[in-house]
Amino acid sequence: MSTVTIAPLAESLPAFLNTHDFSAIAVIVDNHTFRFCYPSVKEMLPKHTLIRIKAGEEQKHIATCELIWDAFTRANFDRHALVLNLGGGVIGDMGGFCAATYKRGIDFVQLPTTLLAQVDASVGGKLGIDFNGFKNHIGVFKQPNAVLIDPTLLETLPERELRSGFAEVIKHCLIADGTMWNQIRRRDLDEQNWSALVAHSVAIKERIVEQDPTERGIRKILNFGHTIGHAVETYFLTQPRKRLLHGEAIAVGMLAESYIACHKKMIDETLLTEIEEYLFAVYGNARITEADTEPILALTLQDKKNRGREIRMSLPDGIGSCAFDIPVSAAEMRRGLEFYRGLNK
Ligand SMILES: NC(=O)c1ccc[n+]([C@@H]2O[C@H](COP(=O)([O-])OP(=O)(O)OC[C@H]3O[C@@H](n4cnc5c(N)ncnc54)[C@H](O)[C@@H]3O)[C@@H](O)[C@H]2O)c1
Ligand SMILES: [Zn+2]
Repeated sequence: MSTVTIAPLAESLPAFLNTHDFSAIAVIVDNHTFRFCYPSVKEMLPKHTLIRIKAGEEQKHIATCELIWDAFTRANFDRHALVLNLGGGVIGDMGGFCAATYKRGIDFVQLPTTLLAQVDASVGGKLGIDFNGFKNHIGVFKQPNAVLIDPTLLETLPERELRSGFAEVIKHCLIADGTMWNQIRRRDLDEQNWSALVAHSVAIKERIVEQDPTERGIRKILNFGHTIGHAVETYFLTQPRKRLLHGEAIAVGMLAESYIACHKKMIDETLLTEIEEYLFAVYGNARITEADTEPILALTLQDKKNRGREIRMSLPDGIGSCAFDIPVSAAEMRRGLEFYRGLNK
């Protein structure tokens, strides 16, 4: 049964709380969701503990988890307490991880407030934190008790964050719905219908996750763009001159990996050109230099989809279709990144 509800929080949150009996409630927010989202949510809740952390991916590590576990402990949370994660993917992944591990697991609900979290991070039960510079290196699979999505929360989201989340919407279309790809690629970012796209993306992700909750097979297609994209994201975490948001890095990854798919004759050049033109129009270029290439390639070895040292990718094999576990050589990845750099000229 689906745990996801797309509705105004003023309806879905009281309805959820009315059907459960929790001993205590914590709400985890970051600085921005404290300001933009918490004031209205607060009105819907009984007495609760507020846990406020700084905003940003840099907070997604074990020291912040200690602060969260400490707050649960000081509030004497027992195993019947509930955690509400009110924020983007950082709060959802980390707050969920803290709830899933506190006293071997207490209930938690995702209240995603970014497009990225609404269409992707909050759905599917992957929780975790970064470790020693590696993204999502420590974590668990655990489904939340509910995911309550309110697309009106996106109204305060900065445009750059909206664009970042849109990369996952594009990914869902490219791997699973060619008709929708042909609709979205004819519209600019500001012409998209977010409520409809959130519902569409959630349905695709849920359908895939249901078939393969722990990513042994088909769920891997959700990682299209992420082998190279995660490596690009991780690499730029260490580069003070430039920071890329998750979706911005995934856009680079989807382009480089689409090139690899075309090179392997899995997709034709017409589709590659469509992807290239649209992603470039929405995301511009991330200016990856020749000197960046080898460090980025080295980072792909950490990818969780690999077997030993062999890189395995999820690559499109048609419009709205994707294959997984495709072995890809370092030379092919290099050519993919070269193709991307060629777009900068
Ligand atoms: N678990 C998964 O399956 C999964 C999938 C994709 C991504 N992720 C993870 O998600 C994270 C990225 O998520 P994100 O892009 O949501 O980042 P984020 O949580 O850092 O949020 C982005 C920014 O938007 C602000 N914000 C959030 N909601 C807002 C609102 N309604 N109005 C104004 N500002 C708001 C935040 O404070 C933050 O500054 C990464 O750590 C990534 O690894 C997880
Ligand atoms: Zn992603």
